[in-house]
Amino acid sequence: MSEVYSASVTAPVNIATLKYWGKRDTKLNLPTNSSISVTLDQAHLRTLTTVSTGPQYLASKLYLNGHEETLNKPRLVAVLMTLKELRKEVEAKDPTLPKFSDWNLLIVSENNFPTAAGLASSAAGLAAFVTAIAKLYQLPQSFSEISKIARQGSGSACRSLFGGFVAWEMGELADGSDSKAVEVAPKSHWPDIKAAILVVSADKKDTSSTSGMQITVNTSDLFQYRIKEVVPKRFVDMKDAILKKDFNAFADMTIKDSNSFHAVCLDSTPPIFYMNDTSKSIIKLVNLINDQSIANGEGLIAAYTYDAGPNAVIYYEAKNEVKILSTLYKYFGELPGWEALDDALLAGVKSVEGPI
Ligand code: ADP
Ligand code: DP6
Ligand code: CO
Repeated sequence: MSEVYSASVTAPVNIATLKYWGKRDTKLNLPTNSSISVTLDQAHLRTLTTVSTGPQYLASKLYLNGHEETLNKPRLVAVLMTLKELRKEVEAKDPTLPKFSDWNLLIVSENNFPTAAGLASSAAGLAAFVTAIAKLYQLPQSFSEISKIARQGSGSACRSLFGGFVAWEMGELADGSDSKAVEVAPKSHWPDIKAAILVVSADKKDTSSTSGMQITVNTSDLFQYRIKEVVPKRFVDMKDAILKKDFNAFADMTIKDSNSFHAVCLDSTPPIFYMNDTSKSIIKLVNLINDQSIANGEGLIAAYTYDAGPNAVIYYEAKNEVKILSTLYKYFGELPGWEALDDALLAGVKSVEGPI
């Protein structure tokens, strides 16, 4: 008789306003700097992952968007091993439980937005991967502990376990036990922050974030200045701007940090280009919008940021929505994907059936 057990979760995307770019330990995925992000509404961008297990499964398999992907990547192997070890502890405490730790897994995942295109698919994807298995295995660990396992799968994934404004503290310890995501402020703290996503291209990037950041670490001089002189102060100041709901300061730092991140990419050998001409035209238009609002005495009203890809994310306050979206739509309304989020911030991972 065949037994099958399964669990499903959805996980949100998070888009960094202070970018993680660089690892000090590639095995444990420990970053060279702390980072900050905003978790986006799952109604628009999300990963849905279902994981199942049973004694009759002959091999573990991962299907992403309908295609089989290898599970034989060191970071996925490490994540699966950690989760199995934790399941063994659960089984040791209650010998009546089925021995999931001996069985293979079938992981079926779907992203409802472009994968590997700079919209943080690895963040939502690995957050869902780890939490779905943690749910199936009925692990007692806290979100914070689960987030450290997600971090090993993809650094940015540790921030997708939480909603609202999230910081990933780089930590100092060699074993990574203090490198973890923490909430800066919940969505309710600043509910009128919204985000517009302009999908310039849904194509898969030619340099993955994992390899791009190592090229930068190994070759860019400017990168040393960024991680030592720029980011530590910005990490403190950006948290402060969020807590004070100071949009002008938040936007100024978000824009500067996106520029700084793409500058260290350009300073790498060979240079890495994630933005294209359309991305740059969007930057020019956002600058024009802000020039006007500064002239009116309102300060900055739109904050663009680009991850490792050409697609724009623009943060703004609800009161400026009509002005910003109508201007963007006038010039870029013909782009392949254009998503104005009603409600940018939402709680982190959701359990599809029952609590996680
Ligand atoms: P992105 O900018 O989209 O985060 P990355 O280069 O960081 O791009 O990572 C993309 C990779 O993340 C994909 O090639 C795939 O290996 C992995 N990934 C994305 N979505 C998922 C998912 N839902 N489940 C498992 N792995 C995923
Ligand atoms: C530009 O988390 O995708 O989006 O840890 O190698 O999986 P790996 O990289 P990943 O890098 C994200 C880079 C970024 C900035 C950010 O999300 O902070
Ligand atoms: Co990624």
